[in-house]
Amino acid sequence: MALHTPRTIKHSPHLPFGDRQDGPWYGRDILSVKQFTRSDLDYIFGVAAEMEEMVRRVGSFDLLKGKILANLFYEPSTRTSSSFTAAMERLGGSVIPINEVRYSSVSKGESLPDTIRTLEAYADVIVLRHPEVGSAELAAKYARKPIINAGDGIGEHPTQALLDLFTIQQEMGKINGLTVTMVGDLKYGRTVHSLARLLTLYDVRINYVSPDILRMPAHILEEVQAAGTPQAEYDSLFPVISESDVLYVTRVQKERFTDESEYEKVKDAYIITPETMQSAQEEMIVMHPLPRVGEISMEVDDDPRAAYFRQMEYGLYVRMALLAMVLGKS
Ligand code: NCD
Repeated sequence: MALHTPRTIKHSPHLPFGDRQDGPWYGRDILSVKQFTRSDLDYIFGVAAEMEEMVRRVGSFDLLKGKILANLFYEPSTRTSSSFTAAMERLGGSVIPINEVRYSSVSKGESLPDTIRTLEAYADVIVLRHPEVGSAELAAKYARKPIINAGDGIGEHPTQALLDLFTIQQEMGKINGLTVTMVGDLKYGRTVHSLARLLTLYDVRINYVSPDILRMPAHILEEVQAAGTPQAEYDSLFPVISESDVLYVTRVQKERFTDESEYEKVKDAYIITPETMQSAQEEMIVMHPLPRVGEISMEVDDDPRAAYFRQMEYGLYVRMALLAMVLGKS
């Protein structure tokens, strides 16, 4: 299903008897944050907050009983794949995990469309992570069942951006009026590509701090500019740390470099330490999609402003909300 066709519904013609198939998100793919409006985000965060409440009260419940998720990962993942698994299982559904495509027919040369057509014969929704930009859109073109993009190369990571925004809202109590500073690998980091786009739906300022070779791609800067969101680029954290409400730190994406010596030059460009935190506001939060490999010192972990571990938990609730929505149960 192409992007920007919000009401098109994908589903199997053979619906289980008695299944309630409705809601504005039923049967839709989640491919890019460009699909979302402000009111969509309010709705998603409302459902996520309900999921949080339910998990705290009862742990697991049967909203998606009998539903099956295929988790298809062509790139490594710990949080994204296990949080989708946990989300599905807490909703009473089950999961086909394909984390090691090396051991699947992909290693025999099967194409992505064929693998997708196979999995949708067994599952109700497919979560896909793949190294190529546009792979999720390609998969969605062939699939009758909803595809959720869990990272397409250096393209997008929409569910991460949704959980990032939900984290900001829950931690700061608001999104409007904040200054968000993104630091690290803004060129290859797909999470910041999605987050910058999503932030344009709010009244925020965005700062980008990166080495010259890892600057935010021009097409994203242009989109942010066109949306009228104030933004500025820096090569040092120093001028912006004290004005930041959210410090969003990213890992330098070693696997995307063709020349390892280039990676070596920039890998330690910014390291957040207790000293950095001394220049930051009392109320600032530090976020990171994780994994970190050294860009935030472990000494920062005990600072109450370190929100990156809490961020993972918010991700569970957002992914529960998204699964319930695309499967017509919210
Ligand atoms: C991120 C990713 O895969 O893009 N991780 C994640 O999903 N939490 C960030 C990264 O790998 O650095």
